Amino acid sequence: MVNITINGIEYFAEENSTVLDAAVKNGVFIPTLCYLKEINEVGACRMCLIEVVGEKKLVAACKTTVREGMEIFTSSYRVNEARKVNLELIVSKHDNRCLSCSKNGNCTLQTLCRDYGIDQNAYINDVKTEKESSAPLVRIASKCIGCLRCVSVCEKQTVGVWDLIGTGHRARIDTKTGLAPEQSGCTLCGQCLKNCPVGALKARDDTPSVRKMLSEVGKKVLFLSPAVAEKTGYPIGKLVAAAKMLGFSFVYNAAAANKVFGKTETDLLQKNKLLISSGCYAAIRFVRNFFPVFSGSIAPTKSPLRQLVDAVRKEQGDVYAVAVLPCLSKKGEKDEYGDVDAVLGVEEFAKMLKSDVFMDKVAEKEFDAPYQEGEPCCKGSKPIEEFTIEKDGESYACVAVRGLENARKVLDDMKNGKVFYEYVKISADIVG
Ligand code: SF4
Ligand code: SF4
Ligand code: FES
Repeated sequence: MVNITINGIEYFAEENSTVLDAAVKNGVFIPTLCYLKEINEVGACRMCLIEVVGEKKLVAACKTTVREGMEIFTSSYRVNEARKVNLELIVSKHDNRCLSCSKNGNCTLQTLCRDYGIDQNAYINDVKTEKESSAPLVRIASKCIGCLRCVSVCEKQTVGVWDLIGTGHRARIDTKTGLAPEQSGCTLCGQCLKNCPVGALKARDDTPSVRKMLSEVGKKVLFLSPAVAEKTGYPIGKLVAAAKMLGFSFVYNAAAANKVFGKTETDLLQKNKLLISSGCYAAIRFVRNFFPVFSGSIAPTKSPLRQLVDAVRKEQGDVYAVAVLPCLSKKGEKDEYGDVDAVLGVEEFAKMLKSDVFMDKVAEKEFDAPYQEGEPCCKGSKPIEEFTIEKDGESYACVAVRGLENARKVLDDMKNGKVFYEYVKISADIVG
């Protein structure tokens, strides 16, 4: 431990930690835009500038290591003015069309501009906007602030779609191939989108087609993931009731799919033969793109959600099926197979609720029977977890993997004959 002083108050900090880490641990706020712990520590945005007594220049807190007796100021006049100039530079290259942005109200850049008194209207500039693609992952280059988070997080997933292209003032983030992400190996894991601090990466907005469907006659069924409750801050009962107010005839627990149909693909297990779960569509894309040798081992069964939609159609006839899930890849699954009519992400669903329903007045309701109970799709939190399945007197070697970095390790080892599993279940989400 070392002794440091931040803004005149003494603190202990772990040796070799950064000033940013020490500040966070001690509850002192330092603004950041590009920093992602252990993933993106590149010092690109200069928002975390601090003043260290005895040093002429301001330094980046995320790149500066603490030392005994260090005296730090995190919000002196000099620091705040420097951060302001950096923000102005960022904003001058950003399209600043906040009203139509998917991150409006939830954007780190917007918040910092407000906190530092930057009037974005003063920076309406000639940054050109391009036509948005209709792929599940949409990139709006005119909003990119070059923080490199997407580059690092996609590298962490071992996919490596993005890169810093060019140098100097021409430097920009683009796909390594120059093609669209979906043609550059993108698995639709959604990690880059989740970590982009502005609206430069977003999920395709499918609310217009859902609104149109809600205005038409016919039965509309919503498959709602309980994970949406945590992410929107509303209890699930309120979301169920609100979905009914939007016009959905039935609202089912989307996680029921994992409980009711989760076992069907393990019925296909055969001794000494590999079976890869088809539950996570991003994992399917990962296997197809990077391990084509195993493509033929992907379970031919529909994913649990698609099976649930089939079951509901069998019971109720032709229904319009919409799913709300915190999972970008399900939009891709919908595009490829079409059993689900539309997939909304959490932000899209929250947007519909905000504009159409008085959430404060909504009384909670339960999911409709018979699909009320469910199980999360990615159980367990270990990166790689081996287990066995007993079936017809045989024991099968299985592994559950989280994150594509770990999936690559396991599949590489299998390819090189180091390990063998009969069932591999991959969730593309990064642990934590
Ligand atoms: S797309 Fe987003 S995450 Fe990637 S560099 Fe631009 S602002 Fe950062
Ligand atoms: S969705 Fe995943 S794989 Fe695709 S570009 Fe983003 S991080 Fe990379
Ligand atoms: S957060 Fe430190 S430079 Fe971006």
